[in-house]
Amino acid sequence: MVRVFLNETRGESMNLTDEIMKLKREKKAVILAHNYQRPEVQDIADYVGDSIELSKRAREERDAEIILFSAVDFMAESAVILNPGKKVLLPSQGARCPMAQMLRADEVRRWKKKYPKVPVLLYVNTLAEVKAECDICCTSANAVAVANALDSDTILFGPDHNLALYLQKKTNKKIIPIPENGFCPTHVLFQKGDILLLKDEHPDAVAIVHPECTPDVQEVADYIGSTSQMCTYAKELPAKKFIIGTESGLVHRLKKENPSKEFMLAYDGAVCPNMKLNTLERVHSALKEERHQVNVPERIADKARKALEAMFTVT
Ligand code: 13P
Ligand code: SF4
Repeated sequence: MVRVFLNETRGESMNLTDEIMKLKREKKAVILAHNYQRPEVQDIADYVGDSIELSKRAREERDAEIILFSAVDFMAESAVILNPGKKVLLPSQGARCPMAQMLRADEVRRWKKKYPKVPVLLYVNTLAEVKAECDICCTSANAVAVANALDSDTILFGPDHNLALYLQKKTNKKIIPIPENGFCPTHVLFQKGDILLLKDEHPDAVAIVHPECTPDVQEVADYIGSTSQMCTYAKELPAKKFIIGTESGLVHRLKKENPSKEFMLAYDGAVCPNMKLNTLERVHSALKEERHQVNVPERIADKARKALEAMFTVT
């Protein structure tokens, strides 16, 4: 669908995409978008990536005056923490990751009291005030490397229980999940049976899934990785057919980068409603009115930055 609207000042009709590009130039803004964003939002972004790539990109951004971060709350918060003083905007104020709401700062403090000698490793899918309580952060791309780099046989890890089990399997460490049952409501929708059915129908297809999927889904996968690692794997492997176990938005990027390959989402309903709140219209209005600015109190940002920077020393 082509969106056309009237430019109030000059009375000209303009395409919404053109208007966003014009605003970007005028306001010296850069648009960073997560791999789960709507196709039309990915297509107008300056950079599309997974959570670690976006954090690195936001941290290194020097020239732009505004970073429009098309993703969910915790990712935009990380950009504020890593690039203090930069104006970071979210297209939709309500774009929150439900998993990140599953672990509170006071809960982390309680676990630390219970295990005073055990380091706390937190998934970046946590709010800034929660990150401020941990020793180091990780993403799905570097969780194993970060856990292995910690000088301890036992690690407190949260909030994703499935990623905790994945870490338990891939490292020789004892992983204590905090809370006991944190999960991503989108990734737990994938079922082992759906993947096996698709594998039966397409014996030449390769199944690639995200570590937020349940252990039985992970068990039948040929590859497990972060969203961008899945893209790299699909590009480099000569296989022509892939079964995808992550949020639907990744399929757009996979198809765009590999036009001759086929990608089948293992469950059509695997949609993160929060990621999808960021429409092109909302990107436009957030940029135009410079609204939904993300702020992190300095005291919290300073502590959370230490945990994020500690992660960057590993990968
Ligand atoms: P990635 O870091 O793999 O992009 O994952 C972020 C996320 O929210 C997965 O649900
Ligand atoms: Fe959070 Fe899951 Fe959405 Fe990722 S897909 S942002 S973990 S709810």
